[in-house]
Amino acid sequence: MPMSQKSVTRVAITGTGSYLPEKVLTNLDLEQMVETSDEWIRQRTGIIERRIAEKGIATSDLGTRAARRAIKTAQIDPLDIDLIIVGTATPDSVFPSTACIVQREIGAKNAYAFDLSAACSGFIYGLDLADGMIRSGKYRTALVVGAETFSRIVDWTDRGTCILFGDGAGAAVLQASETDRGIITSYCGSDGVYADPDLLGVPAGGSALPLTGDNIDQKLHKVKMRGREVFKFGVRIMPEAALHTLEMAGLTVNDIDLVIPHQANLRIIEAVGERIGVSADKVYINVDRYGNTSAATVIIALDEAIRSGRIKNGDLVLMVTFGAGLTWGASIIKI
Ligand code: UT7
Repeated sequence: MPMSQKSVTRVAITGTGSYLPEKVLTNLDLEQMVETSDEWIRQRTGIIERRIAEKGIATSDLGTRAARRAIKTAQIDPLDIDLIIVGTATPDSVFPSTACIVQREIGAKNAYAFDLSAACSGFIYGLDLADGMIRSGKYRTALVVGAETFSRIVDWTDRGTCILFGDGAGAAVLQASETDRGIITSYCGSDGVYADPDLLGVPAGGSALPLTGDNIDQKLHKVKMRGREVFKFGVRIMPEAALHTLEMAGLTVNDIDLVIPHQANLRIIEAVGERIGVSADKVYINVDRYGNTSAATVIIALDEAIRSGRIKNGDLVLMVTFGAGLTWGASIIKI
């Protein structure tokens, strides 16, 4: 229920959670499926293995499991949640929203729930949106989820894309806080000039190109990507977004304890680190273990970094991402 308007100092992340399916798909497994090699995948992407959801497990299942962990850590009652945002490019179905399914599964009856479409930037967009909604004073508690099952939409015969993606989910509970812990600032952007499903997207299955037997035969319902162009964009936009957000916050990169870039490709991550001038030991990497889980990468990484003790209360974390749309976003958080 919307609360009476009250000023909020900051919006804190009071609990995080993540869930990765148990099934592992290694580069060696992929060697049996497409014309590729473990060596090529490691050298060009840094990925060694990724997780794959079992048959019958949908994006909402991954999101629900991550959400339950975040709720447990935050020690809140699901009935206290006012708002649920699920960032995903792989919803359970066109509608109803995956967020409504997560709502049902966690029993958050008092929330209103919706999906957010910003591809890999979905979690940061959701964080920025929930931050603003809580700061407005109208809502007090939000659940922001990034959840994906890209294994269902990749073309397992296309070596240019199938080696990159994995399944997984992460979630964060956001609450109004009177302390200085929480989201310091976020910045999001998009450039629809690049809204081209052949650059990065799924051409068929929507209103522009409804599914037909022909376009299914042509695999137009699967992920398409012009990898080199996307790579160049990521290497340019993520440092720009990170530096802009630092400037907005009146901080420099030296103030930051950990940078969590979108986990798409190790070479992109390293280039981002270099361009923003942060030492390699302050850049979080798990792309080797999970591949690119799209909207889930940064929140899975944040959850891991908190649980492993890599970051502790009071540390400053900079998350930065980019994705189809094209979209991008960055957020600085005091843990
Ligand atoms: O969340 C955001 C979404 N996506 C991304 O961030 C991905 C951004 N792009 C990338 O990560 C890289 O562009 C890729 C990893 C997808 C590709 O790496 P690349 O260094 O840009 O390779 P390329 O596409 O320029 O291809 C180089 C060669 C080509 O062969 P020729 O034409 O030089 O003979 C490809 O056919 O590598 C070949 N190739 C492969 N070889 C073995 C492409 N994929 C594979 C593969 N195994 N899996």
